[in-house]
Amino acid sequence: MKVLNLYACLGGNRYKWDEVASEAGINLEVTAVELDEDLAKLYKERFPNDTVVVADAHKYLLDHYKEFDFIWSSPPCPTHSRARFWGFGVNGKKPVYPDMRLYEEIIFLKHHFKNKYVVENVIPYYDPMLNPSERDRHLYWTNFRLPNNLNGRKKGFGDSKNGNTETLKSWSDFHDYDFSKYKGEQLVLKIARNLVDYEAGKTIFKTALGIYKQQNANQKTLF
Ligand SMILES: C[S@@+](CC[C@H](N)C(=O)[O-])C[C@H]1O[C@@H](n2cnc3c(N)ncnc32)[C@H](O)[C@@H]1O
Repeated sequence: MKVLNLYACLGGNRYKWDEVASEAGINLEVTAVELDEDLAKLYKERFPNDTVVVADAHKYLLDHYKEFDFIWSSPPCPTHSRARFWGFGVNGKKPVYPDMRLYEEIIFLKHHFKNKYVVENVIPYYDPMLNPSERDRHLYWTNFRLPNNLNGRKKGFGDSKNGNTETLKSWSDFHDYDFSKYKGEQLVLKIARNLVDYEAGKTIFKTALGIYKQQNANQKTLF
């Protein structure tokens, strides 16, 4: 099963995929695309068997989508997020256009990609378009039915008023990854917050893999 993992970051969504594939007796080949070189290096260290490409994921999708059985895309969320929207005006921050590449990818995948896909993002500050499914503070656009319960875990963001601020350590524990390894240019706490919960990633991947397996079995009985 050839999988494309776009905007791969540190592979929160991808963390449990090997376990799922091996339980199902499926051989997994993952290609991960990430623009931040430091993140791409750390991703490769975490998932040495994956092919890691440092490139623009949006363009990579257009050029390579036909090569894959399953595509997961997690385009950057800041221009859509409520937190950023509420922050406009603070410290002279100017509003920006929401990055419509999110919707470009959803429309493109829906109409041109024949296999299963997931596009994941945050709940935005505007009414979301193109009928996503909402699960655990995230939106998912898919061409298959997502389970109602993704087994997602809850993680508080901390409450600075009560002196209970979130720590990198708490995120490292949550994602089972030592974020202090990252020495790149992005805010490391922002990166840690942006990883998909691996339990949700596992449930979604398991669902897609089940469909892939079933389709392969159907094809074999046809010939
Ligand atoms: C929301 S995070 C993805 C989280 C990931 N799905 C996970 O669960 O770990 C978005 C990532 O996209 C990367 N990124 C931003 N623009 C990109 C682009 N044009 N091409 C590839 N990666 C990009 C960022 O560096 C960041 O790591």
